[in-house]
Amino acid sequence: MPQRKMLRYTTGALILLLPWIGGLVHAEINKDFSNCLDFFYDRTPPKGISAAGYQPICQRYKNQYHFATLYHREYRVPLYSAYILQPANGKRPGSTWMYEPQLAFSRASTEMSLFQVPVDQNVIESQAVLQDYKNSNYTKGHLNPNMHQKTQADREATFTLTNIVPQQAASNSGPWSILENEVLRKYKNYCKGPMYVITGSMPYESGAHWINNRVSVPEYMWSAYCCPSFNSSLPKSMQSFFPTYAAVGRNDPNSAEEIVPVNVKAKASVRGFDVRRMPLETLEGILRQRLAMPISLFHGQCLEQSRKAQDPC
Ligand SMILES: *[C@@H]1O[C@H](CO)[C@@H](O)[C@H](O)[C@H]1NC(C)=O
Ligand SMILES: *[C@@H]1O[C@H](CO)[C@@H](O)[C@H](O)[C@H]1NC(C)=O
Repeated sequence: MPQRKMLRYTTGALILLLPWIGGLVHAEINKDFSNCLDFFYDRTPPKGISAAGYQPICQRYKNQYHFATLYHREYRVPLYSAYILQPANGKRPGSTWMYEPQLAFSRASTEMSLFQVPVDQNVIESQAVLQDYKNSNYTKGHLNPNMHQKTQADREATFTLTNIVPQQAASNSGPWSILENEVLRKYKNYCKGPMYVITGSMPYESGAHWINNRVSVPEYMWSAYCCPSFNSSLPKSMQSFFPTYAAVGRNDPNSAEEIVPVNVKAKASVRGFDVRRMPLETLEGILRQRLAMPISLFHGQCLEQSRKAQDPC
């Protein structure tokens, strides 16, 4: 083969290999939240999370950012999604599930994409796919639920599997859904500005559970909000809920009860899936212990702007 032609072949082969190599050196792309800081209170993502294994994702759909997710590559689930709550408008969108090309190929588009059939092997390696949830006995639990998002595009964007954890049906449509409604009501009734929400998953401390030997099942779900400016004459019963409050929900009826006790009088269909409401500091204490990281979810505990907002002088 003439040398020039050979060179052309080699270059061609290299170009074909590039996406694959790119998949291995994924740390290059989107390594921080700089394109989506607006979804965090005071444009500050949670502090204290040691970065290894976690991939920030600015959730982009139809050419716009809709929320932010910190994704755990090995577990193939998010640690958390962070968003600004806005009550949904109109009908629930059909659930058309998407994935993140940027997790599979570093040079890929940063827009979430519809799954193709068959699913590319690089996509399967890099994240959870629909097959993982099929016959798993777990539902696809949204961290950022579509009913906390306003426009049709905002809501459709929550149907990306990087915003999803394996959640027991009894929790998803039971106590956890009640919590999501309660937070929405607090926002509507008392919040006078944006409400920043961070909702996450907590893996088992030992004896990890997996679906399809690939996707980590959380033992607990957790959620916290920060509403820096709120009704200045809150009823007494509401005062402890502002500017911040939090909760932890069981995703396993067999878990121990130190974190969330079980109400044995609950209906059998939801027994063992209790959600415990708690102050932000209590949740941060639990996360610190369970994840072994000194996590601070909201800058300055969401207090600085609240003071300004409540006391204009
Ligand atoms: C799902 O639940 C059914 C009924 O309890 C059980 O037979 C099956 O093995 C479970 N599947 C998995 C993947 O755990
Ligand atoms: C604050 O809440 C109270 C009780 O719900 C309500 O009567 C009042 O109008 C609210 N104030 C403002 C400024 O929204």
